[in-house]
Amino acid sequence: MLRALTVEEICKKLRPVMGKKADLLYLQYKLADDIEIKREIERVINALYEEKLNTSLIEEKILLAPPEKTLTGEYELGKTIYADKSYGPFCLRDHDMVRHICVSGMSGSGKTNLAFILLEQLVKNKKPFIVFDWKKSFRPLLKKDKEMMCFTVGNPKASNLFRININEPPAGVEPKEWLGLLCDLITECFFASYGVHKILTETIDKAFRDFGVYKGSQNYPTWYHILDRLQEQESDQKGRGRESEWITSAVRIAYALTFGHFGEVVTCKDKYSMKVEELLNKRVIFELNSLNDAEKKFFCEFILTYIYKLKKASDISRKQEFELAILVDEAHNIFLRDRTRFLKESVTEMIYREVREYGISLICLDQHISKLSEVVAGNSACNIAFQQILPQDVDTISGLMHIRDNRNFFTLLPVGKALVKLSERHFTPFEITVPLSEIKREKMSENELAERMKKEIKDKKRLKLFKERTSIPNLKRQLQRVETISKISGVKPKKGDMLSQSILESYSFSKDQKKFLKHIVKHPGTGVSQAYQALNWSARKGNQIKKELERLGFIKVEEVKDSKGWKKKIYATELGEKALKA
Ligand SMILES: Nc1ncnc2c1ncn2[C@@H]1O[C@H](COP(=O)(O)OP(=O)(O)OP(=O)(O)O)[C@@H](O)[C@H]1O
Ligand SMILES: [Mg+2]
Repeated sequence: MLRALTVEEICKKLRPVMGKKADLLYLQYKLADDIEIKREIERVINALYEEKLNTSLIEEKILLAPPEKTLTGEYELGKTIYADKSYGPFCLRDHDMVRHICVSGMSGSGKTNLAFILLEQLVKNKKPFIVFDWKKSFRPLLKKDKEMMCFTVGNPKASNLFRININEPPAGVEPKEWLGLLCDLITECFFASYGVHKILTETIDKAFRDFGVYKGSQNYPTWYHILDRLQEQESDQKGRGRESEWITSAVRIAYALTFGHFGEVVTCKDKYSMKVEELLNKRVIFELNSLNDAEKKFFCEFILTYIYKLKKASDISRKQEFELAILVDEAHNIFLRDRTRFLKESVTEMIYREVREYGISLICLDQHISKLSEVVAGNSACNIAFQQILPQDVDTISGLMHIRDNRNFFTLLPVGKALVKLSERHFTPFEITVPLSEIKREKMSENELAERMKKEIKDKKRLKLFKERTSIPNLKRQLQRVETISKISGVKPKKGDMLSQSILESYSFSKDQKKFLKHIVKHPGTGVSQAYQALNWSARKGNQIKKELERLGFIKVEEVKDSKGWKKKIYATELGEKALKA
């Protein structure tokens, strides 16, 4: 039942809309000696309450005073509201980002929509991010940002193109330390025992030794090698007590890590395999809906651990400046309150506490705050709570926001409205409204995604390969080879020809790239639009080719000022001219 508000409480609620006048009214009410005058003032106050706050005294309504200071910042997520009126923008700053964000609310309450708004703001501010998308929700964001990548992990129909060898540690991390961490993660995610942990550690350790990893070799075994070794042990041990049970469980795990399309993701060793390092300055979505729960959990935890260890080993950024956001949907899967306790504190919990030192922001989304690890709920400087219905969720979130007396507010929130508690700038919870994201409703088919990613990855690989081949040591090696051939054959080419030859071997131009380069060599200093016009190309096509050639160092664009203002002029570089001649 609704408790009747006291006159003092009513005046406090009127303060955000009436300012000091509300205090004055309360003072008049308090000082009035005559009971009739007192009643009259009370009637006025009650009427003002209903009029100004757009509610009645018998209606339950969320009324939490909005922040007095405007919450400005780089990332606008919505507006602060009070009694249905907007009180200014609700923005987060870089500083809030690195102190982590926790978003909770029942299904359909508006969490993913808020995540869209936040990610759109990150795109606008050119900040990199990684999204662990459990339900294939975030793909439409690719329409907002041409550089964004989306990997459908374990689903070859679209873009199962992110491939790594999980045994290879991040730069600066000792292989021995890495194998320990890897075994901890695997044991947690695949619900294995201490015995299995021991078998896995010993087997990987032996494989590392045999492959020369401890002596500095970069030739890391994959899980196919580990599976082979475990199967050998299994056939040697057949039926001998507990140890053989552990080996059988270890084989089961090795199967899981080598099986099907997920196996392709975590056991890749060819020269086109990727590195997590390549993602850190990009905007990336990992769609995980094709994986089973253990695979999803392992993949997320692996990437998180990798990034954390990499940053820790390089130790360059202790400035806590916001560098990268990591968004985890269905966060309880990796930050679970009641998890199986293999370790006292899970690796991911430790990461949650420490990763902000390296400029990484974690954004966790979940339906049930009561299921989330206390480390997440308690270490997020920004808590955003949409509607909650389950008593245990209401209990947890009202406790976290210190408004247990108003716990019913969480059940009253309509879709798209939330209560926010910050740990800086404003210390009591307030209400916000979040706009509906336009982009969330868009669609992108498997085919459309496949095309886009294939092109993106193909271009990147081509560039990577080109850079590798034209690196100074590789070019020297190629020159030596040509020189040796010329010595044997007796034909002496000019030095410049040899360099051109090695460049030609290193990069094959597309037809349009060659056409463009030829035009620039013939017309040095031509204007950008002039060149496109001469070639009969659209600005879009021209820009694409110009950008690629510039990136490869074949052309350079200079800005010069003439009587009409600034103009961009294009020149071929020495390398460009040589490459064309080759
Ligand atoms: N701010 C908003 N304004 C208006 N409508 C909204 C808003 N946010 C969400 N909605 C509506 O509610 C629907 C569900 O929202 P959303 O997908 O964000 O929920 P969710 O909390 O992520 O749910 P789930 O936990 O099931 O993933 C949206 O499709 C949209 O129609
Ligand atoms: Mg959602």
